[in-house]
Amino acid sequence: MDLFKVYPINNVNIVKAKGSYLWDDKGEQYLDMYGGHAVISIGHTHPHWVQRIQEQLNKIAFYSNSIKIPLQEELADKLGKLSGKEDYQLFLCNSGAEANENAMKLASFHNGRKKVVAFSKSFHGRTSLAVSATDNKNYIAPVNETDHVIFLPFNDEQALEDCFKNHGDQISSVIIEGIQGVGGINVAEEDFLKKIRSLCDQYGAVYIADSVQCGYGRSGKFFSHDFAGVKADIYTMAKGMGNGFPVAGIIIAPHIQPKLFQLGTTFGGNHLACAAALGVLEVLESEKLLGNVVMMGKYLKEELNLIPELKNVRGRGLMIGFDLPEQLKDLKKSLLQNQKIFTGEAKPNVIRLLPSLALKKKDAEQFIEGIREEIASMSVQAV
Ligand SMILES: Cc1ncc(COP(=O)(O)O)c(C=O)c1O
Repeated sequence: MDLFKVYPINNVNIVKAKGSYLWDDKGEQYLDMYGGHAVISIGHTHPHWVQRIQEQLNKIAFYSNSIKIPLQEELADKLGKLSGKEDYQLFLCNSGAEANENAMKLASFHNGRKKVVAFSKSFHGRTSLAVSATDNKNYIAPVNETDHVIFLPFNDEQALEDCFKNHGDQISSVIIEGIQGVGGINVAEEDFLKKIRSLCDQYGAVYIADSVQCGYGRSGKFFSHDFAGVKADIYTMAKGMGNGFPVAGIIIAPHIQPKLFQLGTTFGGNHLACAAALGVLEVLESEKLLGNVVMMGKYLKEELNLIPELKNVRGRGLMIGFDLPEQLKDLKKSLLQNQKIFTGEAKPNVIRLLPSLALKKKDAEQFIEGIREEIASMSVQAV
């Protein structure tokens, strides 16, 4: 049987990983500045995380959500404390798309409305409503086409106000990434997030903070939306939550009350997923990784700003993007081939850095050295 091809594939077979490093089947070492697409939060195969999962696996991996699972309560407790959202409620699921799908669905159950406001260059996942709220026609199948989603320009307060004036009584939710990832590392302005909060309050809509990529400490705050100093009604989480173990969730403000059977899942919140997620939070806390994110992010941005070929260095914490000029359009590929460094990209010309939140100074220095060397060699070839 063939694999169903959905992504262009790098011909590298990674067989081992530790911290910010990866090794292929030939023993070649790579520096991971991509974190497997923002997933690696506490570092590959962190010993505490491995131990947490191993111990749990030897006890019980899964039983249905029809029983009490104290690990879920432990996770909710820890997550509430570390995120500063202790009065919120946790619903667990399995992926980022599923988290956003549940968030928009719950908002609609809550206020009985149908319209969702989303923004230009947004990415919210591949399931039906999540993909309908994603600003990329290529991902939306005919069956997912809907007039329930209104797209507005990102960071445009006037457009948002006008939209609420015209459709305020129909808008169920507004969904926004605190920092757009797939869209090319675009930071939501603090005033814009405040405006979303106040319009949602005024019109009874639900503010959904998609924190799947930019959340879980990646920006230097637990949720990047926190920079605006206002709270969302629902935060969605996935990627860094399990450090590679598939686990996701939404946290829900206390004024949104649950009704039995409105949401549900077979696998979400299973014993093993909770153990993995707890392992991540324990390391985030004990190794003070949010502080490291701020320091390493500052260092990387300062160094990248000194490289004249790289334009518009932006982002927060360890979610950094920059634009490439035409002659460096293959930089990502050549960094991998020649420097053995994994990075991410956003079409057409953006490099995205999404390393582990435990990135060490020496790893960051190796990256800066590698990118400088590669740019120098590509520039010589271009002459
Ligand atoms: C902001 C954002 N939301 C949602 C998703 C979807 O997550 P998943 O691939 O786990 O379904 C992604 C994935 O890249 C994302 O970046």
